[in-house]
Formats: sequence, C-alpha cells, structure tokens
Amino acid sequence: MRTLRVDLADRGYPIHIGSGLLADPGLYRPHIAGRRVVIVSDSRVSALLGARVCGALADYQPLLLEFAPGEDSKTLDTYARLADQLIEGRFDRRVTLIALGGGVVGDMTGFLAASYHRGVDFIQVPTTLLAQVDSSVGGKTGLNRPGGKNLLGAFHQPRCVLIDTDTLKTLDQRELTAGLAEVIKYGLIADAEFLDWLERDMDALLGGDGPALTRAIYRSCEIKAAIVAADEREAGQRALLNLGHTFGHAIEAATGYGTWLHGEAVGLGMLMAARLSQRLGRLSADACGRVALLIQRAGLPTCLPPEIATDTLLGFMAGDKKVLDGRSRLVVLDAVGRAAIVEGVEPSLLATVIDAARAPLAA
Ligand code: GLY
Repeated sequence: MRTLRVDLADRGYPIHIGSGLLADPGLYRPHIAGRRVVIVSDSRVSALLGARVCGALADYQPLLLEFAPGEDSKTLDTYARLADQLIEGRFDRRVTLIALGGGVVGDMTGFLAASYHRGVDFIQVPTTLLAQVDSSVGGKTGLNRPGGKNLLGAFHQPRCVLIDTDTLKTLDQRELTAGLAEVIKYGLIADAEFLDWLERDMDALLGGDGPALTRAIYRSCEIKAAIVAADEREAGQRALLNLGHTFGHAIEAATGYGTWLHGEAVGLGMLMAARLSQRLGRLSADACGRVALLIQRAGLPTCLPPEIATDTLLGFMAGDKKVLDGRSRLVVLDAVGRAAIVEGVEPSLLATVIDAARAPLAA
C-alpha cells in the first residue's frame, strides 16, 4: 500500500492506494468517530462489493443504502430519498457515511454528508478509475440540475480516501477509458513527463495493466492533492483541474445526463480546449495535434454528435460555475504540461471551436 496526504491542517487526510484495501477494517477504524456507519452505493457496485465492505465494518452495524447507477441518478430526488432514510434510521451526527462507488456515488454521498445534521464525516471508497484519480479527492460534492451539471453542491472533505486497485477489474472498457481522460488531464495541465509516459504506455493502461494503472493513479492523486492543499476552494489554481470541463459539462447536459460518461465528455472537451488555445495563439499546432492523437488513442470521443446545436452548448457553457460577472472563464493550454485561465472569450470564437468539433478527426 502507498499513502499520500492531502495537507489541509486539521482537515487533512490520507489517500491509501493498493490492492484489497476495501476489506481491511483497520483502514476505516481511525476515521470513524461514532458507533454507526451508513454505506451509500449504487445497485451495481453494491451487488459486487457491498457485502465485503459491510463485512469490514461489521462492528459499526452498517446500513447499506442504494440507488440506481448512472449520472441521471445524481438528482435532488435521490438525495431526498437517501436523506429521509438517514432521518428515519435516527442516525445522529456521529454517523460516518461511506461512499462506495464511482463519481456519482461520491458526489451524492459527499453532499449528503455535507448537509445531514449540518455535516457529518464521510469516507470515500472510489471504485472507478475516474473517481480514484479525481472526484474522490478534494472534497467537491454535488448534484446536477436540468440547467447544468454540479450546480448544487458544497466543499466537504472526506476523512480518508481508500483506493482499492482491485476494483478496476470490475470496470468495462468504456469506464476505464473514461477514467483515462482525467489521467491525461493531469499530464496536460501539470506534468509534461507524465504525459510522455502516458503516450508511451497507453496500450498497457487500456489493457488494464495493474502496475501501469497504479502508477497513473498515484501520480494523478499526487498532483491533485498538491493543488487542493494549495487552493482548497478554487480561488486560483484549482480551477486548472477543470481543463475541458466547461465544454464537457455542456455536452453531458445537452445529450441528457448519463448518455455520455463524464470522462468521455471531458476527453472531447480537452480536445476542444486545446483547439481554442491554438486559435488564441497560445498553443502550437504540433501540441494541439498531440492532444488530439492521445485522446483518440485512449478511445475517447473526438467529435460531437450532429444533433447537438451550437446554441444549446453555448447556453450551458454560459451557466458554468466558473463564469464570473457574466464573463466566461475557461482553462486553456500554453504548452503540454502548462495550463492557464482566460477570461471573456467571445461566444463567436467558442462557436467556431464547437463547429470544428463536428468534423471527424483526420486519420
Ligand atoms: N474535478 C476538479 C476538482 O476537483 O477541482
């Protein structure tokens, strides 16, 4: 097992990465203050792993709550149903919630933990690559609304993140590929050498090679932990973690939540952000071509479906959380390994980038 730390003074926490961790009671125990735990999962993950986690937490009379898998479950309705189950069970403010699942489960459970009795402890046990490298670390929690993704939420840090790399064996190729989008993101925004390695070892990663995936998870979490420690509430550099996300969230909302996986939308979003960077004169054509090739090699989508209207995407992008005083704020690349925020990009330029994304990538 390897351990990293998110350094946030008294709210700091460990990220443990290794094989077989989710069944180890000793890894949960130091982070559980009360006598009861509630495990929140989706029905797919719960069927695969729920019994093992319940077994590890047997001393805490675990209750297992489930909801339907998929991004379209990340709603106020699901939240209300889960909250009512906690209220009916008379769980007090010393309950610890355990988020067992992918990004949807983590965001939902985190928001429940942030708000139940004005805040209770929670532990993240991410089971998808995407959740292991990104959404389980850093304390962003939230729900979607028809008007946009993650528009309701709170910052609420977990007590611990347990990344059991064995869970990756339960993923299908599509989910693995979607997670690789966020891994690529870290190389693009912060570490050119890591990106070189991803280019070299992409086939091993796509093939589910254990050591390669563990290396990708460790480096991604290391970069994320450092950024979150420096800027927990996204006053500055944490926004760089949103490379491709303004385009990506708009694609998810426009196609109907759950149609595209989050990582798929972020993959195409990063390609669009690279093209925007090139049009702004910040990124070379060669570097932009490299981004396109890597997104394609990872098996992520590289073009938009024709039925999504440009105005629809622009409308969702205008409602993005990063917009300030009506001015857009987007993450762009200055080079592979170096990102920046630009403000006030004209909608006409965004429309050009959207239209360019309709054409398939040249072979
Ligand atoms: N996923 C972006 C962040 O956690 O800030």
